[in-house]
Amino acid sequence: MLNYFPQELIDQVRQANNVVEIVSEYVSIKKKGRNYFGLCPFHAEKTPSFSVNPEKQIFHCFGCGQGGNVVTFLMSHEKLGFVEAIRLLAKRANIRLPHKESNRQEMELNDRLCFVHQLAVSYYAGNLENKSKGKRGQDYLRSRKLSDQIILAFHLGLALDEWDGLLKAATAKGAEASNLLEAGLIIERSDGKGYYDRFKNRLIFPIFNLSGKVVAIAGRIVDEKDSPKYMNSPESPIYQKGKLLYGLNFSKEEIREKKFAIVVEGYMDYLSLYQSGIRNLVASCGTAFTSEQARLLARFAEEVVLLFDSDTAGQNAVLRSVDLLYDAGLDVKVAVLPSGYDPDKYVNEWGASSLESLIKESTSYVRFKISLLKDKFSKLSLREQEQVVLSFVQTAAKIGHEVRRDLYLRQVSEELGMGETTLRKALKSVTSKVQEGRSTVAETVAKPGEYVWEREFLAFMIDNPAWFKEADSQIDREDFSIPSHKELWLLAKNEYQRGDGLDMADLLEATDNLKLRQLMLELANFDYPRQETSAIFSDYVQKFKARRRERTLRSLKEALKEAEQEKNLEKVQAISSELQNILRDSRLTIQAD
Ligand code: GTP
Ligand code: MN
Repeated sequence: MLNYFPQELIDQVRQANNVVEIVSEYVSIKKKGRNYFGLCPFHAEKTPSFSVNPEKQIFHCFGCGQGGNVVTFLMSHEKLGFVEAIRLLAKRANIRLPHKESNRQEMELNDRLCFVHQLAVSYYAGNLENKSKGKRGQDYLRSRKLSDQIILAFHLGLALDEWDGLLKAATAKGAEASNLLEAGLIIERSDGKGYYDRFKNRLIFPIFNLSGKVVAIAGRIVDEKDSPKYMNSPESPIYQKGKLLYGLNFSKEEIREKKFAIVVEGYMDYLSLYQSGIRNLVASCGTAFTSEQARLLARFAEEVVLLFDSDTAGQNAVLRSVDLLYDAGLDVKVAVLPSGYDPDKYVNEWGASSLESLIKESTSYVRFKISLLKDKFSKLSLREQEQVVLSFVQTAAKIGHEVRRDLYLRQVSEELGMGETTLRKALKSVTSKVQEGRSTVAETVAKPGEYVWEREFLAFMIDNPAWFKEADSQIDREDFSIPSHKELWLLAKNEYQRGDGLDMADLLEATDNLKLRQLMLELANFDYPRQETSAIFSDYVQKFKARRRERTLRSLKEALKEAEQEKNLEKVQAISSELQNILRDSRLTIQAD
């Protein structure tokens, strides 16, 4: 993992990104003394114990123990892999990253699949543009009121009423049938002799990934008699349905700005709203959200507004995944359209501002769910009431984010007119199962006992690498009293020998050992006496020396005892004189000090 990119490049990328800047994009932090403080994004808290240290380029939460450098922050907060995080930071800093050899095969396949999609999209768009062949498609899209601009921007197209239009056009442009097949754009004939196009006589809606590449295609019937209404390309190495949200690549900035995302169901809903100027949205495409999609959305939004037509809202697929949205840290609201309308029809008839005010009036998911009950909660039978409470509580149990869970329970309590304590009790009974396997609190490090000063010393060394060479000549790994200190010393030594001094953020990256990282973070917040560094340094060296002497004395005394018991006079004499020497030396040093 660590050598996917050359270490120097990783360092360069990290150093080009300021942890304070990156963190403040996600957390509001204020400067207090040398550090910045804010509410920890990794656990629920009311008083800020999350700190960012600009000098050391690290963050650390005193509350939950999470901490690391700018890379690990992105990894935990954005749920990214190491490589992804580095890529993202490199992009921000305009640093070019090479592609790794071992990944070339995979890259090439992905590139080829993207390439054939590109060919397909431009072929289908060409069909739609064609005055005579594309007329049906153009007429249809016009009847749906989509502008040419939208058609171009979203690369809409048309698959003609032919069996192999794409196959021919794409192979003529250098695509290989095997790639078209793997992309799902063509299908093998059942007799094994050749292929035919997957999409025939359909409007083409390209599906883009987050970076704006076409990775799949949805085809809608042009002739209302045909079925199914929509057909999608199958999953492929570049397209995993559950990891992608339609439109997010076009809408992510608006979503980030507005802090909330509108979720609609269909491609047509998405496009109509986008055209009307409402652009902070995604389409769920008729399926339930996966947790990956929920987390993806939570990278850009704080809240989602589910926008449904009143008729289907009750059984809508997204409603089945509401708990995943909560669990991802999103607040969930519902906006309901008048009966007989879907977002597309509504915006075309009533306009964007009317739809916007409807969205502003969206209610909490809790209130919405209660509104679906056949009667007022208080008028339901006890058994029905119990079921309602249970279903709310089951959602609560799946919300890992503590503050969100509390807020959610408060909403439920208010809406149902029911005490929070009762709800909490009900929650407890279902929680025990759900919470298993979740560990939020980071591993803690064993208390160092009397060896606190060893830690101070390590902290001092990391802050004052100028003394490292000297320290290395005087102090040895074995001088430390516990394994983690020994390990950190070695790590620091290696890091120092790599050439560019010592840096906490570097050190953090140099190990995967959780305990060690935890220790470093603790050290970063350690205060050692602030005097002249040479004085501090020699103080520590003396401490180590004194202890070393003590240890030697102790073992010599033991050896002496043994020799006496064995009546080995020669040995007794040798050890005694050694003891004398050491004692004299130490008196001398003490006097000299
Ligand atoms: P229009 O009917 O043209 O307004 O399209 P729509 O996008 O509004 O579709 P609708 O509201 O019926 O369905 C919502 C979404 O569910 C669609 O955009 C598709 O993503 C998906 N969907 C609907 N019908 C089908 C189908 O037959 N097959 C598949 N795979 N998906 C479908
Ligand atoms: Mn529709």
